[in-house]
Amino acid sequence: MRKLKIIGTGSYVPPKVLTNFDLEKMVDTSDEWIRGRTGVKERHIVEGNTATSDLAVEAAKDALSDAGLKAQDLDVIIIATATPDTAYPSTACWTQKGLGIKDIPVFDIGAACSGFLYGFEVAASLIATGKYNNILVSGAEVMSKVVDWEDRNTCVLFGDGAGACIVAATDGDSGILASYLGADGTIGHLLVQPAGGTRMPASHETVDKKLHTVHMQGREVFKYAVRTMGGSVAKVLKEANLTAEDIALYVPHQANLRIVEATCRRVNMPMSKTSVIIDKYGNVPASSIPLALDAANKKGKIKSGDLVLFSAFGAGFTWGAMIFKW
Ligand code: ACO
Repeated sequence: MRKLKIIGTGSYVPPKVLTNFDLEKMVDTSDEWIRGRTGVKERHIVEGNTATSDLAVEAAKDALSDAGLKAQDLDVIIIATATPDTAYPSTACWTQKGLGIKDIPVFDIGAACSGFLYGFEVAASLIATGKYNNILVSGAEVMSKVVDWEDRNTCVLFGDGAGACIVAATDGDSGILASYLGADGTIGHLLVQPAGGTRMPASHETVDKKLHTVHMQGREVFKYAVRTMGGSVAKVLKEANLTAEDIALYVPHQANLRIVEATCRRVNMPMSKTSVIIDKYGNVPASSIPLALDAANKKGKIKSGDLVLFSAFGAGFTWGAMIFKW
């Protein structure tokens, strides 16, 4: 297998901040409830016509600058998103246009909160073919346009933003030590945006019934998330013959701080090794892992040879974990 390296990371969140105190004026909730139950203090949300690819373009530019590359140096663009600009063209095509480049393969990955890890695994496989060298893998989401702002069960949880990394072929010894992806479509109904696709096309009725927004059975999803995140992490640690002590940095998907804490307890990972961003950004589905990775990287928390553990869980259901040698 060709080895790969993360040569740049980037982030972008829209400037507007919506705090828990702002939400207190919109629905029957409190800062205390939201912080205590989820760990979220505030989230960023877009304004006006801003779409997912607009955030992806800015995160990509940040990652390209960190890598010392130009957009023209990219061989592939992979965008993980649950909130595409349009059903088609793909958000990757909109992002490519925004970056001002042509003539390379670009596509979306639909695995909700696990999308970034799915995309990363695909990027690693493409690099292994020897045909591609520099790949942009990004998670980008505009959840604020698909939540019901009158439903306190869901609207307090999510935020908007994009994270990105540039994955490149290398002669060094960095790369994936272990990875695992999984899915179970039989319980997909627990977390779904029901209308707008071919199963339930848009109609006056779907709009009136708010079926174009997030519908979630939170308690069930929570239990499943804790079990699956813990199980995935244990699996990759075992595959790589490592323990939590060997890991320098843990970068989990962040749907709820209590899920992250419960996962850490299950695998004996100290929370101090975790890059936490949910307090500032909320749950930013496919973007939360690359945003948390970029936050740690820009703070200089990752050095060459460090082992970084990723894990995710999301709608589908989908999940995965990966150990990456930096
Ligand atoms: N403010 C105040 N009270 C609230 C709010 C709110 N914002 N939301 C719910 N409540 C109330 C409920 O109505 C309920 O009241 P009741 O007991 O009178 O019925 C009470 O609080 C407790 O509700 P629970 O649902 O039991 O609360 P829980 O502790 O489970 O927390 C939460 C809810 C935060 C949604 C949690 O279940 C969770 O995080 N679930 C997992 C989310 C997740 O992992 N999503 C996956 C990724 S997202 C993706 O893939 C797109």
